[in-house]
Amino acid sequence: MSEADLDTVLAIEACAYAFPWRRSHFADSLAASHWTALRRDADGQLVGYAVALPAADEMHLLNLTVARPHEGRGHARALLDALQAAAVARGAATLWLEVRPSNERARRLYAARGFEQVGLRRDYYPAPHGRREDAIVMRLRLAAAASPAPPGDAADRAAAADPAGDRRGLD
Ligand SMILES: CC(C)(COP(=O)(O)OP(=O)(O)OC[C@H]1O[C@@H](n2cnc3c(N)ncnc32)[C@H](O)[C@@H]1OP(=O)(O)O)[C@@H](O)C(=O)NCCC(=O)NCCS
Repeated sequence: MSEADLDTVLAIEACAYAFPWRRSHFADSLAASHWTALRRDADGQLVGYAVALPAADEMHLLNLTVARPHEGRGHARALLDALQAAAVARGAATLWLEVRPSNERARRLYAARGFEQVGLRRDYYPAPHGRREDAIVMRLRLAAAASPAPPGDAADRAAAADPAGDRRGLD
């Protein structure tokens, strides 16, 4: 993902969430070299993306989104494949994410990938009418035999810092 992708990314984001990420969330992630991945269809159209925060020996999935008209075609699975490969390549032991209890579609996707529920963050997400919604914390343990990635891997634009200090989980 680059600045040039953000108009398209924001259009997809706005349709996908009641409380979408703002441009600054994506811009801050790019500035901090968070891991990002784009998904395109056969015509080269951008149809999905993922953003993850790398840390010492883990990665935290912050955003995973597929454009509404392109759902149900395996794009999210492919993005999770890319994330998992990047995490294994850099020697990460664990993938983390948060998901709304109401987001059954995403929960089914993560469960099918082997993520397990390990906790609950009370009132984590904004919800309609000024309410809050809990976040389910999910974890995927990666193979212990993972080997670190070579430095400068272009596909794995990782950095440890969270630019905004606003560690906002998946919605
Ligand atoms: C959740 C989301 C990323 C799934 O993307 P997707 O590209 O449609 O998912 P895939 O096609 O890769 O499907 C993967 C799995 O999702 C689930 N899924 C896909 N389509 C589904 C549908 N119509 N109904 C229920 N579950 C569905 C299934 O478990 C599926 O696995 P299967 O093909 O073995 O049945 C997408 O719906 C999305 O962007 N939603 C809005 C944003 C969001 O909620 N992001 C996740 C935040 S935690």
